[in-house]
Amino acid sequence: MTAKKLYLRSFGCQMNDYDSGRIADLLEERMGLEKTESLDEADVVILNTCSIREKAQEKVFSDLGRIREAKKCHPGMMIAVGGCVASQEGKKILDRAPWVDVVFGPQTLHRIPELLAEREKTGRAQVDVSFPEIEKFDSLPAPHASGAAAFVSIMEGCSKYCTYCVVPYTRGEEISRPLVDVLVEVAQLADQGVKEVTLLGQNVNAYRGRTPAGDEADFALLLEYVSEIEGIERIRYTTSHPREFTQRLIDAYRKLPKLVSHVHLPVQSGSDRILAAMKRGYTALEYKSIIRRLKAARPGIAVATDIIVGFPGETEDDFERTMTLIEDVGFDASFSFVYSPRPGTPAARLPDDTPYSVKLARLQRLQKRIDENAAEISRGMLGKIERVLVLGPAKRGEGELMARTDNNRIVNFPGPASIINQMANVRITEVFPHTLGGELV
Ligand code: SAH
Ligand code: SF4
Ligand code: F3S
Repeated sequence: MTAKKLYLRSFGCQMNDYDSGRIADLLEERMGLEKTESLDEADVVILNTCSIREKAQEKVFSDLGRIREAKKCHPGMMIAVGGCVASQEGKKILDRAPWVDVVFGPQTLHRIPELLAEREKTGRAQVDVSFPEIEKFDSLPAPHASGAAAFVSIMEGCSKYCTYCVVPYTRGEEISRPLVDVLVEVAQLADQGVKEVTLLGQNVNAYRGRTPAGDEADFALLLEYVSEIEGIERIRYTTSHPREFTQRLIDAYRKLPKLVSHVHLPVQSGSDRILAAMKRGYTALEYKSIIRRLKAARPGIAVATDIIVGFPGETEDDFERTMTLIEDVGFDASFSFVYSPRPGTPAARLPDDTPYSVKLARLQRLQKRIDENAAEISRGMLGKIERVLVLGPAKRGEGELMARTDNNRIVNFPGPASIINQMANVRITEVFPHTLGGELV
């Protein structure tokens, strides 16, 4: 008998990608499902969805239409929808797409096997989008690494309630995993050859993990412990929030060489008026003060950010303040988008009279400026020796390898396959718009 097949699509942030990886591991272990890239041969189809912006959400329903067609030729196919759209919509998913069998949330993904079994037994669609306390991690199999880079979730949810954002509603309040659980997971991955770990959460610096002594470890302390784990050579994290970016965390950049010289710190806007309306809890000056202290602790650190353009009421003057902040900080990259009103969030009720075309023009100007910055930073790397993690063969070019620098750039260079999944030193010899070229030293 051939193994049953799982077709799994993931949308949204790295938290969702991480969850998708865990779902695949779980369904392989518990149900013997093998992953497939072909929808037509799938026995179980899972969509792990995102609702951060309207476009992301709508994508789910167009995909569900396509999957309905595939199910017509494969009547036993089970369809499960999870992630943030599922969490937000719950049973309503079934009204719009009655051919869906199971709806699960980000905190109930470990229950998928039971939900599928129940669906089969009762013939009725199953919905569970509750937020049970962190039970999820206790019910998941130990992670298995593929390659030298891996992700580890350290906290879930968000309690910040920025006025534009769905995450606190879809993922629940902030909950941290116990310190030892995180360290064990990192150590298990290191044993499997992982060299670079990315610690994940919506606000990693809100981490408050229970210690065996019954105290709380903060994020700076967690970083110190992860740094002690043998085999781990590089530590990244995403996403952090300016509100809890403590001096202790900044000092970690002095103490912990394994912490990469790259930080992703979303600012959202450079206008204090807009930041207050977003309920971000800091001013542009406070943000810049964090960056100034970070650069003092770790000279040359690259800073990436998230920006929302066209928040309700954003004037030309507010936008210019964002452009000024971009000049002042010299961002290396950004995830920037036009504001998208999300149902149920306070900002969705604010008057918004800026035409979309004006917002789009602002976004394009902003992205162009940040791209220029990024290109300038890339040009500054020419001739320098970078410590890189070799990820695998380059996409193009025989004998070429592909690696990632500290500041998240891809560099291609000729080298032996034996150094794949290892750290290496590479001199940057060429700068292209999206990648670098180099030579092994
Ligand atoms: N927790 C992180 C970000 C999580 S969401 C933080 O607070 O910084 C990822 C990004 O999506 C946000 O940083 C924001 O820039 C963007 N985003 C969130 N809600 C949005 C909305 N309604 N419209 C447009 N962009 C949004
Ligand atoms: Fe959303 Fe704000 Fe929480 Fe980030 S901090 S996930 S933007 S509510
Ligand atoms: Fe999207 Fe949910 Fe992540 S809304 S960005 S998948 S937390």
